[in-house]
Amino acid sequence: MGEVVWDIQGSDKGCRYRQFLEQMKPFVEGERYEIPLMGNVSAALKEVFGFLWVGFYVVHGEKLLLGPFQGPMACSEIKWGRGVCGTAWKEKRTLIVPDVDQFPGHIACSSRSRSEIVVPLMKNGSVCAVLDIDSEEKDFFDDVDGAYLEELANIIVKTIYP
Ligand code: SME
Repeated sequence: MGEVVWDIQGSDKGCRYRQFLEQMKPFVEGERYEIPLMGNVSAALKEVFGFLWVGFYVVHGEKLLLGPFQGPMACSEIKWGRGVCGTAWKEKRTLIVPDVDQFPGHIACSSRSRSEIVVPLMKNGSVCAVLDIDSEEKDFFDDVDGAYLEELANIIVKTIYP
């Protein structure tokens, strides 16, 4: 793979996500393995959207293990039902946290994180991993992020867990 130069125009968030998904899709679909794909998706999301932290936690028995990510160092294990990631796993749904200080049991990996979104990667009704994104701004994520990141999660699942 040569250098990837993103061409993302405009300021509308949904529009930026659509361009991102269109340009990202061939790279995702060209991958077969979990680690390189999660690494490149994390790098791409961080480069294009400038999030504080982007990465994956992968289900491993009763806990989530830190997978490929971009950003400050993070906790390596999260139990089922714990923190935002473990709760998204337990509830099998996307969680949008406008203010991490208001989320009971939030696990603070970086003091700079103010808001967060966690999107589960679902395979046959089970969560196999979660995509976690942190922002330095409160109230940063909304349903637009949720919808497009769920679409991205589906493309990833179809590619690496066919
Ligand atoms: N805040 C997460 C932990 C992971 S870091 O944000 C990278 C949580 O509460 O599950």
